[in-house]
Amino acid sequence: MAAVIVVHGGAWAIPEELSKASVDGVKAAAREGFSVLKRGGNALDAVESAVRAMEDNNMFNAGHGAALNSEGEVELDAIIMDGRTLASGAVSSVKNIANPVSLARAVMEKTDHVMLTSRGANMFAESIGVVTVPTDALVTEYERNEWEKHKNYITGVMEDFNTKWAHDTVGAVAVDCTGNVACATSTGGIRNKMVGRVGDSPVIGAGGYADNFSGAVSCTGHGESILKVTLARHILSYMEQGKTAAEASELALQHMGVRVRGAGGAIVVSPSGQWAATFTTERMAWAAVEDSVLWYGLDPNEKLQEQLSQ
Ligand code: GLY
Repeated sequence: MAAVIVVHGGAWAIPEELSKASVDGVKAAAREGFSVLKRGGNALDAVESAVRAMEDNNMFNAGHGAALNSEGEVELDAIIMDGRTLASGAVSSVKNIANPVSLARAVMEKTDHVMLTSRGANMFAESIGVVTVPTDALVTEYERNEWEKHKNYITGVMEDFNTKWAHDTVGAVAVDCTGNVACATSTGGIRNKMVGRVGDSPVIGAGGYADNFSGAVSCTGHGESILKVTLARHILSYMEQGKTAAEASELALQHMGVRVRGAGGAIVVSPSGQWAATFTTERMAWAAVEDSVLWYGLDPNEKLQEQLSQ
């Protein structure tokens, strides 16, 4: 069967000046992940590699370029999940780690646990020789300036989160040529979040989920809303009831809007290669590769395509 990868760079009101770099970034990440699949790599390797590409890209709120908390510090969350075995690994509130998605994978593969947080996650990273970086190395000038501008924002004033607050988690889902699915999600969370706040991204069933019996999902958007409706699992339960990937994500995102007034987005792939990229925010940069065609978009209902060279 044909392998497919879908990536997102976060659902939010992406300003015009960031739109080209956001789209270029998701296209590059989708190409990167697809090259892994094309070389015979599995879905897990592909989603890790696509998310690493976006963590390394200053444009996105993950790894380098992450949003800063109320003390002006980086605290990163990530998850990865293997749909074949339901194995999952996650980290939350980590500092000094440039690629939290790979640390999440190490939690999955080298510990008996599903999530490590904060100091414990950093201690684990050190014990397995993950290279740390100075925290400031992950902070961009753009983010420092935005943080200075918005630092009086306080948690709880989320009425119009959708249009006002920068929020661009990254994620990837893939199905490989053997029909195995995987997901990965990584984020710096909400700018000016309380110290120690953990959003949906590293929480299994909320920020991501993967199961070969239904599909793989990576979510983005207002973390507290996504947590309340367990968005990733909610989408997959619609698929288990026979909805398509697009129908399932639309229904679950609508439910989140109505039930908790939350906005966001999701990318989905099924074990048969059906996929969707859906959002209820103003914009979401996304890209997908299927049958050597690169699909991408930013605005609602936008679906552009390019042929990839063989
Ligand atoms: N969706 C990412 C977060 O709220 O932290």
